Amino acid sequence: MGSRLLVESHKEVEIVCGIVAITSEKLFSVKKDLLFGLKKLEYRGYDSAGFATTEGNYGKEVGDIDNLLRSTQKDFLTKTAISHTRWATHGGVTKQNAHPHFDAKKEVFLVHNGIIENFLELKAALEAKGYIFRTETDTEVIVNFLHDRMKTSKPIDAMRDFMKAAKGTYAVVFFKTGSDKLYAMKKDSPLCLGVSKGRVFVASDIYAFSHETDRVIFFEDYEMAEVSPQGFQFFGMSGPMKKEPVQIQWEREPVIKKHFDHFMLKEICEQPAAVERLLHSLKTTQAKRMGEIADMVRGCKRIFFLACGTSYHAALIGSYLLSRLGFEAHAVIASEFEDFSIIDKDTVVFAVSQSGETMDVITVLKDIKRFNPKIIAIVNYPYSSVHRMADNYIEIMAGQEICVAATKTFTNTLVAIYELARVLRNHIVLDRIPSIIEEVISENESNVKRLAKKLKDKHDIFVLGHRVSYPIAREIALKLKEISYVHAEGMMAGELKHGTIALIEPGVPVIGLVHESNRDRMDSALREVQARGADVYKIGNHSKDFMLPDGLNEEEYSIVSTIIGHLLAYHIAKLNGLPIDKPRNLAKSVTVK
Ligand code: AGP
Ligand code: GLU
Repeated sequence: MGSRLLVESHKEVEIVCGIVAITSEKLFSVKKDLLFGLKKLEYRGYDSAGFATTEGNYGKEVGDIDNLLRSTQKDFLTKTAISHTRWATHGGVTKQNAHPHFDAKKEVFLVHNGIIENFLELKAALEAKGYIFRTETDTEVIVNFLHDRMKTSKPIDAMRDFMKAAKGTYAVVFFKTGSDKLYAMKKDSPLCLGVSKGRVFVASDIYAFSHETDRVIFFEDYEMAEVSPQGFQFFGMSGPMKKEPVQIQWEREPVIKKHFDHFMLKEICEQPAAVERLLHSLKTTQAKRMGEIADMVRGCKRIFFLACGTSYHAALIGSYLLSRLGFEAHAVIASEFEDFSIIDKDTVVFAVSQSGETMDVITVLKDIKRFNPKIIAIVNYPYSSVHRMADNYIEIMAGQEICVAATKTFTNTLVAIYELARVLRNHIVLDRIPSIIEEVISENESNVKRLAKKLKDKHDIFVLGHRVSYPIAREIALKLKEISYVHAEGMMAGELKHGTIALIEPGVPVIGLVHESNRDRMDSALREVQARGADVYKIGNHSKDFMLPDGLNEEEYSIVSTIIGHLLAYHIAKLNGLPIDKPRNLAKSVTVK
């Protein structure tokens, strides 16, 4: 029995990752068992999905797992099978490019998360040996490479050869047709083993098998495993190794939309409870950790917040607040980090990632570890890669977030950052946030719907903010793009007049985020666009467009103005009949570079 990992409130979550494989002593159903687990990982990617059984039966379909289930008329009973949900990186979103991939004789079936950077070079070498490629993916080189090596070597040696030859990131699982064994290897992309009675899972995330077992082994880079229903053997680059399962404890929450039309709306509306839960834990179970983190910040020379997308907007607010408190603090988009890095042992790096699996963030963390900074993860998912790479962490406790667009995880990340500022020495009051959110949502439903109607056919929307509301302007613009498919720009109000104002003409919508702390500058900017005929809408006190309670502090304002912006994006998307919970081309957690 391995060690026991405890997290005070672990939620069962339906996100991250696209591989599930099972090998079992007894027959299991592809549809009910394998694809059930895969569905739990769908939010990682939903370009296409597929499965294969060791008997050589397989199915692939473009679109999400429901599509695959619909098109798979017959269920298959098997003892060993693999499955995959894809977020395409190499090659179009086609049935042909969907995983699993196999060699020409269908002797090896394989699934892969990640990117093989030198696939063209590997492909040319395999073509010279007579291998024919039928897809545009990088993944097909892995299956042919292994197939070729396994003519003369054992699977573990073939994988070792592959890891020596390949550049890139990969979590790979495969089987040889007719065998009950699964083989797996990984570098950078997450992969883990779930050990149950008479059945072993290999998956890119623990939640794929959380309904069945809590005994988990995480693969580290360059590790491989041979897995059978009775057990498993791990190998490193230099030989066999012993690894024991750890036991994970979690609370289970069913995934249901309740009476809401979409998960996005449900998740926006459950924010009062999500914030309440976080605030409570920050005062109790997480208070000690928060104290330690505050001490790390006090003792450091500089702070970096590292994040992508919506999490970056929270990070940006973090950098504003800590700068205000006299610290040297910067927020940097993870994929642009390399040129910014003045990292040493006196640097604190906050890795802000709700999923904890964003590859751009993980890549930076791997790179900077050698300089010995203190890494603090701010994550919704304990056990995620970012959490496991950090020296300390804050769990934002937002609960399951199914919609691809981050809403309640953004709010809870902000609350966690505000609490840090409060502990550091700010007179921030956070306790009123849950009731204020509730009030703002209930009083603005018709206001948001009214504005959504006016904006639903617009091609460009400008959102202006200043100070803490500038990152919020960017967050609202991001949601308008990803959910409503409207081009939107979130801008610093003061910066507009330095160029972008050229785009303002009669009828162009401009949303201004106005709070007492930024009123003067916001008023000037909004007057300037109004003078050029823009349609100006305000989110703030004394606004005719939305009702906000009087006397909101900056923190409260930042949260409720975001919520109004998120609701606006939601209602525009709804009026336009868009796929709100799974917008095109996106994935909840982007686990490739
Ligand atoms: C949010 O609505 C987006 N889908 C996206 O920008 C997301 O915030 C980004 O990919 C970062 O994800 P993470 O917080 O899981 O790291
Ligand atoms: N690079 C592979 C592809 O494009 C795998 C992508 C994934 O991780 O889903 O098919």
